[in-house]
Amino acid sequence: MSLIEQAVKRLDELRRAGFGTDAPDVIDPQSSPAVSQPAPSAIAAAPVEPAVRSASFPIDMRRLAAMGLVSPEDTRSRIAEEFRVIKRPLLANANPAGGSGVARANLIMITSSLPGEGKSFSAFNLAMSIAMELDRSVLLVDADVIRPSLPTLLGLRQSPGLLDLLSDPSVRFSDVHMHTGVEKLSFIPSGNAHPRAAEMLASNAMTSLVGELATRYPDRIIIFDSPPLLVTTESRVLATQMGQIVFVVRAERTLQRDVTQALATIESCPLKLLLLNGAPQTPDGSYSYGYGYGYGQGPGAGK
Ligand SMILES: Nc1ncnc2c1ncn2[C@@H]1O[C@H](COP(=O)(O)OP(=O)(O)OP(=O)(O)O)[C@@H](O)[C@H]1O
Ligand SMILES: [Mg+2]
Repeated sequence: MSLIEQAVKRLDELRRAGFGTDAPDVIDPQSSPAVSQPAPSAIAAAPVEPAVRSASFPIDMRRLAAMGLVSPEDTRSRIAEEFRVIKRPLLANANPAGGSGVARANLIMITSSLPGEGKSFSAFNLAMSIAMELDRSVLLVDADVIRPSLPTLLGLRQSPGLLDLLSDPSVRFSDVHMHTGVEKLSFIPSGNAHPRAAEMLASNAMTSLVGELATRYPDRIIIFDSPPLLVTTESRVLATQMGQIVFVVRAERTLQRDVTQALATIESCPLKLLLLNGAPQTPDGSYSYGYGYGYGQGPGAGK
């Protein structure tokens, strides 16, 4: 079966499982703890299965705080304060009642030019910070399918995830959708390695999944951790489906040339915000993190 045929088949399967229909969500992280209800369309089209219980892995909050990550147990830490500032413009853009007017502004991809610039660190901190909002829920997706690092960061063992969902018809959304123990934060790991991981991310099934995630609950923020733009092509494909991109620049390390080159690959995304990671601290303790607005927003951004 060709890759296209496989993608069409998978697309069909996703539809039957409730994606791409008006059926109630099977992926609502707000539903009663760790339980997802199958959509009526799935019940009609597929063999009846018992209510599916999503996996659960309670994040060790003390470990997070010890690693310098945003943790609900230490809301006054410097990193928590910094991400409070960082998330604001993103949330304002994604506000369903008004906001930027940009389609899919609730889909936010975190990327950068090269490895090690702080994408995963920033993706997690941003997700946790948004999860602490009163009226927002967050789904963090590990879309760095080649070199996933979020499981290590979170102390999670290898488990089925995005690649399994896209490639294996027997895997359902609830098999890969993990509850984290933080009420409003759920997680999809990248899953088991797949020889055609890059093609999976560019497949119709992925397009369908991303579209469904964007529209089902407009007030849910979906954050995609992604690979570096200048090393692989997956992020470029994913970028075409995002409403907002946070582009991480590692202070005193990322070269301007690389920033320019990487931004040129994601020109199609309407909202790009630059995040300066690890800037030297000023005497008053500020500015170790912060937004640079040099590339602004709207047409011409990134030029
Ligand atoms: N602001 C920061 N403060 C402290 N540690 C940081 C910071 N930013 C990143 N790190 C650390 O630097 C290392 C690299 O960060 P991270 O894994 O987030 O990079 P990445 O861009 O996702 O890399 P890759 O492209 O390989 O996935 C990690 O150990 C991370 O914890
Ligand atoms: Mg990473």
